[in-house]
Amino acid sequence: MTRERNGREAKSEQRDKKVTTKSLRLMKARGQRIVALTAYDFLMAELLDEAGVDVILVGDSAAMAVQGRHTTVSVTMEQMLYHSELVSSAVERALVVGDLPFMSYQINADEALRNAGRMVQEAHVEAVKLEGGKALCATITRIVEAGIPVMGHLGLTPQSIHKFGTYQVRATEPEEADEVRRDALALEQAGAFAIVLEKVPAALASEVSKSVSIPIIGIGAGGGCDGQILVSHDMLGLYSKFHPRFVRRYAELGSQMKEAFERYAKDVRAGDFPSERESY
Ligand code: KIV
Repeated sequence: MTRERNGREAKSEQRDKKVTTKSLRLMKARGQRIVALTAYDFLMAELLDEAGVDVILVGDSAAMAVQGRHTTVSVTMEQMLYHSELVSSAVERALVVGDLPFMSYQINADEALRNAGRMVQEAHVEAVKLEGGKALCATITRIVEAGIPVMGHLGLTPQSIHKFGTYQVRATEPEEADEVRRDALALEQAGAFAIVLEKVPAALASEVSKSVSIPIIGIGAGGGCDGQILVSHDMLGLYSKFHPRFVRRYAELGSQMKEAFERYAKDVRAGDFPSERESY
C-alpha cells in the first residue's frame, strides 16, 4: 500500500515538474530518456501533456499532417505562429518547442532572431527549432544570446528535400557521417540546447549522442539517442498510406475514425440517428 502510494506520488511529482532546457540536460546526464512528440492543436497538446510527454514540438510537419502537403516547405510563419499558440495555451508541464518554417531563418541572423522572437512573444513557445549545421551556427548563437533556446536538427532535414531529392536514410557514406559528427559539435558550441537527429544509422546516432553534452533526440536514428521523437499523427496510425520502418504505431486511429464516420453515415441514412433518447 505504502509502496503503491509512493509510486503514485513519484509519478505525480514527475508529472508536475515543469520541463525546462536545463532539466533536459540533467535528464541526459542521469541517463533518463527524453520523450518527445509533435502537436499542432490544443486538444492533442493537452493529451500529450497529461500523458507526461517531456517535449512537445509544434513541427513544420503540420504542412503534411494537417495541411495535406507533400513536403514541409510551404508552411508559413503565420501558420506556425497559429499552431504554436494553440499548443502553448494547452501545455502546463512539457517544454514547448516551435519549429521555425522554411525561409524564416535562412536569409540572415536578424530575420531569424525577429522570427524566433515572434514565436516566443506571440505564440508563447519556450524554444525554437531550426534545421542545419555549421552554416547556421552564427544564427543560433545570435538567437540564444537574445535569450531564446534553440534546438538544432541534423541528418535528414526535410526543409532541404528539393536539394536532396529523397527522404531516404542519410549519412550512410563516411563523408556525410563525418559532417554530422562535426555539425553536432558545432551546434553544441553555438549554444543549441538539444539536437533532433533524423534518419541516420543507429551506430552513428549513438556515437554522436555520446560525443556531446546536450541531448540528442532521435527519429529513425535507433535506440542509442538520449530521447525519441515521432510525429504524433504517424504513431497514432492516422495515415494509412505512410508507414516508414522507424514509426511504431501505437494505435490505428485512421481506420477507427473512418469506421466511425461510416457507421454514423449509415445510421443517419437509415433514420436510426438520432433516437428518441438523443432528442429533446
Ligand atoms: O516537423 C517535425 O515534426 C519534425 C520532427 C520530425 C522532428 O521536425
